[in-house]
Order: sequence, then structure tokens, then C-alpha cells
Amino acid sequence: MHRVLITDSLSKAGLKVLEQTPGIEVVIRSGLTPQQVREELKSVDAIIIRSGTTLTAELLEGQDRLKCIARAGVGVDNINLEAATRAGVLVMNTPSGNTISTAEHTFAMMLALSRNIGPAHASMKAGKWDRKSFQGTQLAGKTLAVLGLGRIGLSVAARARAFEMNVLGYDPLISEEKCKELGIQLFRDVDEIVTRCDYLTVHTPLTDETRGIINADRLAKMKKGVRIINCARGGIIDEQDLATAIESGHVAGAALDVFVDEPPTDRRLVDLPKVLATPHLGASTDEAQEKAGIAVAEAELRKLQFTNAMANIDQAISLNNTNASFHNTKGSSNPKPTLLLLLVQQLG
Ligand code: NAD
Ligand code: MLT
Repeated sequence: MHRVLITDSLSKAGLKVLEQTPGIEVVIRSGLTPQQVREELKSVDAIIIRSGTTLTAELLEGQDRLKCIARAGVGVDNINLEAATRAGVLVMNTPSGNTISTAEHTFAMMLALSRNIGPAHASMKAGKWDRKSFQGTQLAGKTLAVLGLGRIGLSVAARARAFEMNVLGYDPLISEEKCKELGIQLFRDVDEIVTRCDYLTVHTPLTDETRGIINADRLAKMKKGVRIINCARGGIIDEQDLATAIESGHVAGAALDVFVDEPPTDRRLVDLPKVLATPHLGASTDEAQEKAGIAVAEAELRKLQFTNAMANIDQAISLNNTNASFHNTKGSSNPKPTLLLLLVQQLG
């Protein structure tokens, strides 16, 4: 029996895939402390997480039974990949299930920020009818800079083009031709792109290179009145530097779905009136959760099936070595390559 631990919410459809598979026992535990996660990991073959669980080197060390970590979502920055590799644990994610939902959330945030939807809504709910305080700006004709032109960045860029925005992009990997085709003006220098935009949105992973890519220096280079959106990862934009730039009036506002600490422990940025904030909701749609849940469950099962089959092959080989009569089709005395090939063909 393979035990699969789930510590963050997984869609019903994903759970069903696991629960209907013979030989799988699903263990659902939420709200665990790191110490409790460490304990639970000792008796499972696989774990499925979202962004609510952080798998540090300390938690992964000495986990002899664990074979696989599956992340229902894109970012694997909450998993210590080096420690997982050292422990021989495979890490998988579901890269495309939430692309559209996150792009739409980014757009919702950009529109809401521009039209003061958050404060106007709060004012109405407080019984007021204030038509003077919430004048906004329109998106058409404005320039949007997109840092990170991967799946989500490109989807945001396409939506911005439909809203008649001028779209600039920065990504070290995308080609000039692809950007031309999509109507995106490509920049290879962050310091230059930041000077040109009215709106800036980030869609890179959080890495050593991107942590603080938008900092005090770059904020100072931007046009006064720029608006900033982060629906990727907390920390890509330095939170304290952004708070200072908003307080000074240089940045007109920010829309943030992600934070360095979630929930944020330091409230300085979130509590600013010019900050529109959501609690990491980019991928929280029925559609994205269903897709990610099913994809992660299926990936997990494939990995466990593979591990099982490998163990069977090793067992078969060791039995036949004892009998000294096993030969593969090419006459070699080592049948493992042929058996592995058969296995890979069967698993597709
Ligand atoms: P992706 O891998 O398709 O795209 C990332 C892009 O960033 C790539 O094109 C890559 O070349 C680029 N990049 C890497 N380093 C860069 C750098 N230093 N400067 C500029 N560009 C750089 O990933 P994606 O699916 O588009 O996701 C992007 C981000 O959004 C990830 O951080 C992911 O975790 C986050 N995300 C957040 C939510 C949410 O709920 N808010 C949901 C999904 C994804
Ligand atoms: C992701 O990286 O896919 C997001 O953070 C989604 C999530 O876990 O909600």
C-alpha cells in the first residue's frame, strides 16, 4: 500500500483520482507545524502540497520512505530542491493548470487598482455615496512592462494588448521574433524597461536572481505615478522599498497577491491605503484547482507506479540471478535495460 500525504487543500477531482486507485491510501492532514510534517513524512511514500507547506532541508533529511513531492501549482520555491535531490526524492509540479486564472487575477488587480474598486466598495458598504474620492485612470494608451514572459506573463501581455495598452517585456530567454509576433517590445535591460512604463507587473519565479529585482534604485528610476502589480511571488519586489516609494507618493499604488511571509507578519505595506491586497488567490478558481488537482494526482500515481515496477524488476533480476538462467532478448546476462524499456513503453 502506498501512502500519499496531503497537507494543503486539493480539489475534489484530484482526491477522487487518488482515492479510486487501488493500492493508494490518502492521508489528509492540514494545519501541521513543521515538526508535525516531519513526523508524518516518515510513514508516507509521497506528499502533495500547494504553497501552504514549506519543505525545508531539515524536514527532508533522513526521510527514507519518501519518494516523491508533488506541488499542485507552478512555484517550487517552497521546496528545498537540493535537499530533495540529495534524499533521492523526485519533485514534480503542474506548470500550466493555473496560467489563465493567474493572468485573469493579475488583470482584475490591475483594473481594480486603476479604478479604486477596493476603497470605493468599502465606502459604499459603509453607507456612503462618494463620487469624488475615487477618480481613476484608464488602461488604454498606457504602457505596461511585464517582467518574465513565460506562460502567465505572455497571457497577461495578450490581455493587455486587447485593452489597447502598449506592452513592453523583459525576459532573458524569449526571442525577439516571438515578441514581435505578439506585439511586445522586448528589452534586455531591466534598468531601461523600468523607466518606460505606467504599470509594471512581475511574472518570474522567485530565485536568487529575481529576489528584489524591483528595489529602491529601480523604483526611483520609474515614472512618478507608476502602478505596480505582483501576482507571482513575494520578495520579487522588495516590500520595504515599495512601501517607502508609495508613502513618498512616487508610486501611485500597488496590487499584491503574494507576500514574503504569508500571511504577512509585517503589516507596513499591506495596510497602506494605496495597496490593494488579496491572500494569494491567483490560482484559486474552480477551473485551475480542478486541473492542478487532477494533474498532480496523476503525476503522483505515475511516479509511484514506476517505483513499484522498478522494485519488481530488481526483485525479478535478483531471483533470476540466483537461478542463473535469465537472459534478455539480445543475449546479454543483464536483463535490466530490456525490462526498463518494456516498463517505459507500458507507462507511455
Ligand atoms: P514560467 O516558468 O512559464 O515563466 C517564468 C518566466 O520567467 C520564464 O519565461 C523565465 O525565462 C522568466 N525568468 C526567469 N528568470 C528571470 C529573470 N531573472 N528576469 C526576467 N525573467 C525571468 O512560469 P509561470 O507559470 O508564468 O509562473 C510565473 C510565476 O507566477 C511563478 O513565480 C509562479 O510561482 C507564480 N504563480 C503565482 C500564482 C498565484 O497564485 N499568485 C499562480 C501561479 C503562478
Ligand atoms: C503557484 O505557484 O502555482 C501558485 O502559488 C498557486 C498556489 O499554490 O495557489
